[in-house]
Amino acid sequence: MADPAPIHGGDVLAAAARWGLDPSEILDFSANINPFGPPRGVTKAARDALRSVARYPEPLARTLRAALALRHGVPEEAVLVGSGAAEVIHLLARLAAGRRVAVPVPGFAEYARAARAVGAVVVPTPVGGAFATIPAAETGGAAPAEPTPALEAGDLRFLCNPHNPTGRLLPPGDILRVADGTPATVVVDEAFIDLTDPGEDASVLRHVMERPNLVAVRSLTKFFAMPGLRVGYAVARPDLVSRLDAVRDPWSVSAPAQAAALAALADQAYARRTREWVRRERSYLAGELAGLPGFAIEPPSANFILVRAPEPVWSIQNRLGPRGILVRDCRSFDGLTERHMRVAVRSRAENRRLAEALSSSGTRSAP
Ligand SMILES: Cc1ncc(COP(=O)(O)O)c(C=O)c1O
Repeated sequence: MADPAPIHGGDVLAAAARWGLDPSEILDFSANINPFGPPRGVTKAARDALRSVARYPEPLARTLRAALALRHGVPEEAVLVGSGAAEVIHLLARLAAGRRVAVPVPGFAEYARAARAVGAVVVPTPVGGAFATIPAAETGGAAPAEPTPALEAGDLRFLCNPHNPTGRLLPPGDILRVADGTPATVVVDEAFIDLTDPGEDASVLRHVMERPNLVAVRSLTKFFAMPGLRVGYAVARPDLVSRLDAVRDPWSVSAPAQAAALAALADQAYARRTREWVRRERSYLAGELAGLPGFAIEPPSANFILVRAPEPVWSIQNRLGPRGILVRDCRSFDGLTERHMRVAVRSRAENRRLAEALSSSGTRSAP
C-alpha cells in the first residue's frame, strides 16, 4: 500500500517504528549523509562544549564565522552562520517577504516552504534541460536551460548546485549568467558542492563579493555527517548579511554545534578520505543501479543518485523496509513520479547490499 510520501529523507525513527526494527538496524539511503560518520574531533568537541551549557553560545557564532571567512577569503561580515543550511534558507527568504520567490522544480522542499512562511508568492521554475529519467513534459522538456521568470528587484530566486534531486552540476558560468540577467537576488544552494569532483571550482562563492544579488549557501551536515548538530552558512555581501542578522535569533546555533563545526573544518585528512570515497563509490553504485533491468539513472555528480524504477517506489520500499533498507520515495517532489527514488552513496558493502536487495526483491520489468 502507498503511504503518503515524506517531504524529506532521513526519518530513521519512523522507518524503524514502521517495520518493527531498532533504529540501528536501518541502513539509510534516503538522506545523503557521509557514511563515515562525523570526524572523531567533532564528537569530542561537541562533548567538551557540553561543559559550558550553563553559558549562552557565542552570539552569531562569531568564532566560527571568522574561521569560515578565512577559509573562503571573504570578510567576516559576509558570513551568516545558521542552524543548518535550512535555517539559512528560511532567513534568506525573508528578503522577499510578500514578493515573489522562484523555486526549482523538482527541488528541495524548504525553498517553497520558506517562501510561503514569509507570505511570498512561489514561482515554480522547471529545472529545464534533458534528463534520462524525468518525463520531459514535467520539466519544461528541452526548453532553454534554466528559463528565467520575469522577476524584479526585491524578488528571490533559488538555484541548487549540484541539484537535488537530479544530481546535475551546472558550471559556475551558467549560474553567473542567471544572476547577471536578473535584478532579483539569486541564492545558490551549494549544500553538496564539496561532494562533487570539481568541489570549490564548481562554486560561485568566490564571485559573491562582486555581485550584490548573489548568495552562496553551504551545509556542514552532509559532508561531515553531522545533521543532528545543525550547522550551515551563507556568504553574501555584508549589507545583506547585516539585514538578516538584525532580525534573527542570535543563539540559533548551539555551543556544541559551533565547536563541532570548528573541529570538522580543521580535519583535512577526513576531507581527503571523503573525496576519494565519493568518487569511487558514486561510480560503483551508479554502475550497479544502471545495470538493473528496467532501472534508469541520472548521471550523478555528488553523493546521491536519482533513479527511475520500473514500478512504484512505495512498493519497492515495502519489500526493502523489513530488510532494514530505506530509500527516498520522490513522489513528494513536484515534477517527479511514484517511480522515482533517490539513493545516497554509502560504503562499498552497503551499496552492494542495496543493489542485491533491489535485484532480488522481485522488481517487475518496465511495461
Ligand atoms: C539541497 C539541500 N539544501 C539544504 C539542505 C539542508 O541542509 P542542512 O542539514 O544543513 O539544514 C538539504 C537537506 O537535505 C538539501 O538537500
